[in-house]
Amino acid sequence: MPTRPYVIDEMISAKTIAARVEALSKDIHDAFSDTDKLVVVGLLRGSFVFIADLVREIDLPIEVDFIEASSYGDSTESSREVRILKDLRGAIHHRDVLVVEDIVDTGYTLKHVVGLLKARRPARLKTIALLDKPSRREVDIQADWTGFEIPDEFVVGYGIDFAQRNRNLPYIGKVRFSDEEQGT
Ligand code: IMP
Repeated sequence: MPTRPYVIDEMISAKTIAARVEALSKDIHDAFSDTDKLVVVGLLRGSFVFIADLVREIDLPIEVDFIEASSYGDSTESSREVRILKDLRGAIHHRDVLVVEDIVDTGYTLKHVVGLLKARRPARLKTIALLDKPSRREVDIQADWTGFEIPDEFVVGYGIDFAQRNRNLPYIGKVRFSDEEQGT
């Protein structure tokens, strides 16, 4: 549970997200239209809303699988040490894989997961992230497709949490701690 009082200011509306996800789905469709072996891998838990909207716009015979990596816990800072909490159900050897991430922040999570999955020798492995915070990057990784570049703000909504809260917001909002307000 979050320990400090905070408010959420809308940053990206549900309508803007929907339009961007539709455009991204078209790109994904075009990139993988030559294959019937695509596995779309959602990184739990933050990508669950994004992947649900994304795959429903992709008119290809895909499979969906999930992998869970350790997250921030109750903090707003990355731990930099990535652990796999839940692995894929299926094999990806010789399959085409699209890894779906909610946010690329320091980059440790995506880099670790990509390395792990590439070692299983998929035919192709591509990545998509809804959000990217390039100014926070600590390791060299870039998603093949990105929904929105955002500044260094802690965000919630559309599947993304703060200490497990606010995943159900239909928009992306930025967290503002009430005890950091001007003059306090
Ligand atoms: P990275 O390993 O630092 O790139 O962090 C990636 C993960 O940290 C994301 O998949 C999110 O789960 C979490 N994360 C990064 N930034 C935020 C944020 O602004 N709000 C909530 N979670 C975040």
